[in-house]
Amino acid sequence: MVTEKLKSVHLSEKNFGRLQYLIKTQCGINMTPGKKTMVQARLQKRLRSTGIETISEYCDYLFSHEGMKNELVHMIDVITTNKTDFFRESAHFDILTKRILPEMIQSRQWSIYKPLQVWSAGCATGEEAYTLAMILNEYAMNHEGLKFSVLATDISTKALEEAKLGIYHFDKIESVPAEMKKKYLLRSKDRKKRLVRIIPELRKNVQFERLNLIEDDYRIGGHMNIIFLRNVLIYFDRMMHEKILNRISLHLTHGGYVFVGHAETLHGLNVPYTQVFPTVYKKMMSHN
Ligand SMILES: C[S@@+](CC[C@H](N)C(=O)[O-])C[C@H]1O[C@@H](n2cnc3c(N)ncnc32)[C@H](O)[C@@H]1O
Repeated sequence: MVTEKLKSVHLSEKNFGRLQYLIKTQCGINMTPGKKTMVQARLQKRLRSTGIETISEYCDYLFSHEGMKNELVHMIDVITTNKTDFFRESAHFDILTKRILPEMIQSRQWSIYKPLQVWSAGCATGEEAYTLAMILNEYAMNHEGLKFSVLATDISTKALEEAKLGIYHFDKIESVPAEMKKKYLLRSKDRKKRLVRIIPELRKNVQFERLNLIEDDYRIGGHMNIIFLRNVLIYFDRMMHEKILNRISLHLTHGGYVFVGHAETLHGLNVPYTQVFPTVYKKMMSHN
C-alpha cells in the first residue's frame, strides 16, 4: 500500500529532465535540480484534477500529442508561482506618485490628450494591476481630465481568471490603506464569506490578457509609459533577462520607466535603460 502510494507521487529523474526542458522552452523558467520536490508536489494537483494515478502516467499523457494540446496550459498553471500582494514593495508607489507622475505631466507624456498607459507584466492574480489602478485613479482625481489604462498580462490562465474576477479574501487586502479600501473595494453581501470585490469603475480601467514574455511577438497595441516587471525575471536566466528587457523596450515610450522586483537587477545586461532608483530604470532616449 505504502509502496503504491510512493510510486504514484514519485517523479523520476528522466521525467524531471523532460519537464525541465519543456518548462524552459515553453515559459523560460529554469527549474533547477533543487526544484524537483516542488515540481513533484505541484503536479499532484493535476493528478487529482485529471484522475491520472501516477506522475509517470501523467508525464506520458502530457508529452503526447493530445496532452500538448489540452494539458500543457494546466501544467503551466500549477508550475508557475503566482505569489503577489496589494501594495507589494510599496516604495515603488511612492516613487511613482512623488517623482515619476509629476515628471510625466510636466514633460507632457501624460496630458488630457494622452492617457497614461501602464503595463503590469507577470501580473499573477491581479493585485499589482489593481494597486496601480487605485494609485493612478487617486492621482488623476487631483489632475482634472487625466485618464489612464492598465494592461495586465501573465502566462497563467488560472491566475488571469482570478484576476479578472477581482474578488479577494480579507486576508489579502490588509495592505490596502483604509481610505482606499472604502473607496475601491465592495464587501460581499454574504457577510460570512469575508470577501471583497474591486469596484467596476476601477476594473474597467484594467485589461487582462494572456501573454508569454518569452515569445517573439507581444502583439501589444500602442506604447506604454510605465512597465512593472516585478518578481518575474528571477525565474529566468541572464540571457532571457536581456531578451525580455530588450523586447519590452520596443513597447515603451522614450523616457518611459521599468520597475523590477527588489531581488532583481539590470546590472551588467546589454539593455537600453539607465538606473534612476535602486530597482527603477528609465529607457534611454536614443533607443527606439
Ligand atoms: C511571483 S509572480 C509576480 C507577480 C507581481 N508582478 C508581483 O510582483 O507581485 C510571477 C508571475 O510571473 C508569471 N510568469 C512566469 N513566467 C512567465 C512567462 N514566461 N510569461 C509571462 N508571465 C510569466 C507567473 O505566472 C507569475 O504569475
